[in-house]
Amino acid sequence: HPANIKLNDGAAMPQLGFGVWQVPDDQAGTAVKTAIGAGYRSIDTAAIYGNESGVGQGIKAAGVARSELFITTKLWNDRQGATEPLKALDESLKRLQLDYVDLYLIHWPAPKQDRFVESWKALVTLKKEGRARSIGVSNFQAPHLSRIIDATGVTPAVNQIELHPRLQQKAMREFHARHGIATESWSPLGQGKLLDDPALTAVAKKHRKTTAQVILRWHLENGLIAIPKSTHEPRIRENFALFDFKLDSSDLAQIAKLDANGRIGPDPDRFS
Ligand code: A2P
Repeated sequence: HPANIKLNDGAAMPQLGFGVWQVPDDQAGTAVKTAIGAGYRSIDTAAIYGNESGVGQGIKAAGVARSELFITTKLWNDRQGATEPLKALDESLKRLQLDYVDLYLIHWPAPKQDRFVESWKALVTLKKEGRARSIGVSNFQAPHLSRIIDATGVTPAVNQIELHPRLQQKAMREFHARHGIATESWSPLGQGKLLDDPALTAVAKKHRKTTAQVILRWHLENGLIAIPKSTHEPRIRENFALFDFKLDSSDLAQIAKLDANGRIGPDPDRFS
């Protein structure tokens, strides 16, 4: 089973979770119930994914105690501001049928709006109220992080960023380490685009594991939090079966060479 990462506010977050970006609402219940049945205890959704209701149904159907689960959702860009986040989280909680989330993230800095500092202050309030046990951000660059930390004295517990072997984010990981921010990888498998990479398939063959398992193991061994997505039960199980092998230094050296500034998603400085 996956280890927990200790966050800078004292909370414990499973290092391996289940992501549901691009899972339609009417499939999210089954996917989440399957994932929890397979052993996942952390689920990552967002208001903009449009599947919080399905996720909530899946959580309920799985029948695991709320205290054993770690549920993340995110504030969408059009709800940023001083007070809107308070309402937006209420709406997310209703859809999820929960009275708190374990982690609430500002989804994008949306720097053209320049409201992420006020939004962060609202998240600090939500944490004080207990509706979000931990708070963090997603897709923030170092200058965005510095601004919210300087303005509030509150450091995000987590920054969830695009991160996979082709976009290894060394500078961001160093910044996070200096500030005690946990790094969470979105699209840990590069949206599936890394699965036929020859170097990764060679490592997989050597360990008699799948390429997906090698990539996810790489995230874990680098101290990252990973949230792979799949809607197929065998893959949901495969992506959780990571605890009977270990990459060696030559595997890690091979994978280190794949870093190529290979961003798949939007540029956080432009996206709003
Ligand atoms: P599917 O949902 O059809 O199973 P990421 O988490 O990096 O965004 O990657 C998700 C993509 O990778 C999805 O297209 C998913 O497809 C695919 N995927 C996830 N796990 C596996 C796996 N173990 N083997 C092959 N493809 C996978």
